[in-house]
Amino acid sequence: MTTVPRVERLSAPAVRQLAKGAPPDAIDLGLGQPGWALPEPARQALAAAGAEEAPCPYGPNEGLPALVEAVADHHRTDPGQVLVTHGAQGALFALFQAHVNPGQRVLVPDPGFPGYRTLATLCGGEVVPYRLGPRGRLDPDALGHALQAAAADGDVAMVLLNHPSNPTGGGATAEALAEAAELAGRHGALVISDEVYRELHLGHPDRRQASLHDVTDEGVVVSSVSKAWAAPGLRVGWAVGRPDLLAPARLVHAAMTTAPARPSQLAAAALLRESATVLAESCSQLVRRWSVAQTAPHPVAAAVTPAGGFYHWLELPAWALADPMAFCLRLRDEGLVTVVPGSAFGNAGNDHVRISCGGDPRQLAEGLRRLDRFWRAP
Ligand SMILES: Cc1ncc(COP(=O)(O)O)c(C=O)c1O
Repeated sequence: MTTVPRVERLSAPAVRQLAKGAPPDAIDLGLGQPGWALPEPARQALAAAGAEEAPCPYGPNEGLPALVEAVADHHRTDPGQVLVTHGAQGALFALFQAHVNPGQRVLVPDPGFPGYRTLATLCGGEVVPYRLGPRGRLDPDALGHALQAAAADGDVAMVLLNHPSNPTGGGATAEALAEAAELAGRHGALVISDEVYRELHLGHPDRRQASLHDVTDEGVVVSSVSKAWAAPGLRVGWAVGRPDLLAPARLVHAAMTTAPARPSQLAAAALLRESATVLAESCSQLVRRWSVAQTAPHPVAAAVTPAGGFYHWLELPAWALADPMAFCLRLRDEGLVTVVPGSAFGNAGNDHVRISCGGDPRQLAEGLRRLDRFWRAP
């Protein structure tokens, strides 16, 4: 029997592929990252690190103590429950490698962040999609059915939750999270809650959506400074969970990276210490952008308020459904706007595109204005 090597089943993410061929004057509403300035505490920490006439040591594999403590404080837990990583992506990579064996099933949301499918493939795992509820919210019944079917013909290693969701912006209630954790536990699966968008929301701080660890001590929560702390280029993230769940992931992460970059960790620790002001500023930046998306020409305006994150999950016009990728290429090459086809997030995303509202608000307004005519007529 011949097998296809796992890496040969990988391809560059659609968002990157589309951006590469884009005309130089195209507006990029594809990549999901904050377009506002790196907050002052991080800038100061980076400048201070660069000004020191001192060695730049590796530091501990598990992250600098100051950052580990800052993450633990933020999650109201103790430092032994924290693994500092190279972005949330580093945390996910390490957790997948540590907890998914070849042939085991991994439940991923559909539509959902494409990275989960890639990471499962790299482990030799079997991807099992589960549907989200109306407006992309977590639907424990749909998850339960998918889990039951997956467990009937194999071992389920892991269940991925991601709320607020990329790409739908849909949230999850505390009850739904508790139910999902209970379902995963019943099937012996590790639940991972990817909460990178939880702190980046449009409402009052009390209205941010619940965390998995508000409802259970089980499972692992993953997050990073990339979205809400406006620092994707630092490449700092973390996983929070029981030490026995993190221990094998620590070994994988150390084997892959040794440790995250020291100046980045110092900057991330400064951002976390100043979370109250940094997060408030990020949320007001999001409010500004979202009001642009809401007041765009009617066919492309955002009608649904996300539970968090900066994604406008827009339904395609009927005439685009026959070939959504060709339509997105037209948007890019004729309309001069890059968006991500919903199919990049799974089959359930075929009839949508994802528009990132994270960038410059004027570019966002102009990009939506350019898209308008493609939604009005074929
Ligand atoms: C849902 C989700 N998880 C994880 C990541 C990776 O984030 P990081 O920059 O922290 O590696 C992203 C990035 O877009 C994301 O959307």
